[in-house]
Amino acid sequence: MFCAEFAGYTIFEGMEENEEKEIAGFSKLPKRDKIYWLAKNFLYANPVEVLKEFAEYWHDNIEAQKLLDGFSENTLTNFPVPFGIAPNFKINGTIYAVPMVIEESSVVAAASNAAKFWLSRGGFKAEVLSTKKVGQVHFMYRGRREQLLHFFEEAKEELKQGVKKITTNMDQRGGGVLDMELIDFTDQEPDYYQLRVYFETVDSMGANFINSCLEEFGKLLTQKIHQSALFNDKEKEVEIIMCILSNYTPECVVHTEVSCKVKELGTFDNGQMTAQEFAQKFHRAVNIARIDSYRATTHNKGIMNGIDAVVLATGNDFRAIEACAHTFAARDGMYRSLSQCEVKDEVFRFWLDIPIAVGTVGGLTSLHPLAKRSLELLGNPNAKKLMEIIACTGLAQNFAALKSLTTVGIQAGHMKMHLTNILASMQANDEEVSKAQSFFTDKVVSVSSVREFLEKLRNTSFNTNLNAG
Ligand code: MEV
Repeated sequence: MFCAEFAGYTIFEGMEENEEKEIAGFSKLPKRDKIYWLAKNFLYANPVEVLKEFAEYWHDNIEAQKLLDGFSENTLTNFPVPFGIAPNFKINGTIYAVPMVIEESSVVAAASNAAKFWLSRGGFKAEVLSTKKVGQVHFMYRGRREQLLHFFEEAKEELKQGVKKITTNMDQRGGGVLDMELIDFTDQEPDYYQLRVYFETVDSMGANFINSCLEEFGKLLTQKIHQSALFNDKEKEVEIIMCILSNYTPECVVHTEVSCKVKELGTFDNGQMTAQEFAQKFHRAVNIARIDSYRATTHNKGIMNGIDAVVLATGNDFRAIEACAHTFAARDGMYRSLSQCEVKDEVFRFWLDIPIAVGTVGGLTSLHPLAKRSLELLGNPNAKKLMEIIACTGLAQNFAALKSLTTVGIQAGHMKMHLTNILASMQANDEEVSKAQSFFTDKVVSVSSVREFLEKLRNTSFNTNLNAG
């Protein structure tokens, strides 16, 4: 048991007087010393209590905890975030229960709601349009442009061959280096050129593979220019600035859509809104996000609520997906909605085109036990299938948000979910939770209204008990 184990916890030698917030060698301290140091210098709390609190979130299984610790640096504990499921997702005819990791209370409920809505209307159709990824070698070349262009045309194949030792495995899996081009940026930054390389990484996200290839390209480029008779001594002094993949993958795109006859949409807002009215209003809401960047940002945030949650659940890099999605949203020079809508010939159509560079092998996908489980839940998809599932969840999320916004508003559903959190923060017991839930069915939820309700309830119970006693 944790408490017994730490009951006699003693102060570490030499650390008692350490009031400094600066520290050398923090990463080398054992986990408990790190916590102790933090408690003393930043939390000003009893280190044993802090240690106890952090340790409550440690994994019972030492090996499992070691694995989690290994994912990052300076790990003190784990930070639990809900892992939920949105069932009833029909995608290209197959039904999925989609795993989602997210802290925002209404997201999974909204995705489930949209999935169910479309389940009886044909479900989601999804298609991966392309899977190309990009890497860049940024370098400075101080010399004649024509010589460099000429050199590049001749050396291109050799450069590709030069990374074979890295690409053999990937080549066998159907991936590898697809192509490369030399881009002259000297009109914007003197002497700056870029080698832009295109990759196919099949089922892996491919970041390590791409970066290894790029660093090798950087070396080969320097060497080959140095050896080439095309250049004079000054021109041979190529300076590699950096070699790194680009998280912008506008050619790694998935298309997903839902559609049905307008009349099949049903009625909304307790029958007060017809299908036709809903379709028109929904269509307007999407168009507003196409023309106004303020609205587009929130609109796209709603899409990313669904996308990030599945990306996280499957052990993929949600920051990469986010960064890429927003650049893509601004690809024509203005930041716009990623989704689009059309109401034509009595048919409602809502779709999303989005780049999603994810993997189903490598990285955390098989190392993190729950990421592994998530992929298993989805039938161990390949990267393309996962792209489709993720994009559909984004579209579903967007549909659910706009459906609420254009009918009853977002707050009703949101605050109902939030009620649970407010009650928990006020230490409400099961009976109080149940009474609060029925009381607030038709009332506005706010921190003060819940507090007032609980105070009244608790006073009444106190007085009743007093009288009974
Ligand atoms: C909240 O997390 C997401 C929404 O704001 C999205 C939207 O406004 O479309 C509801």
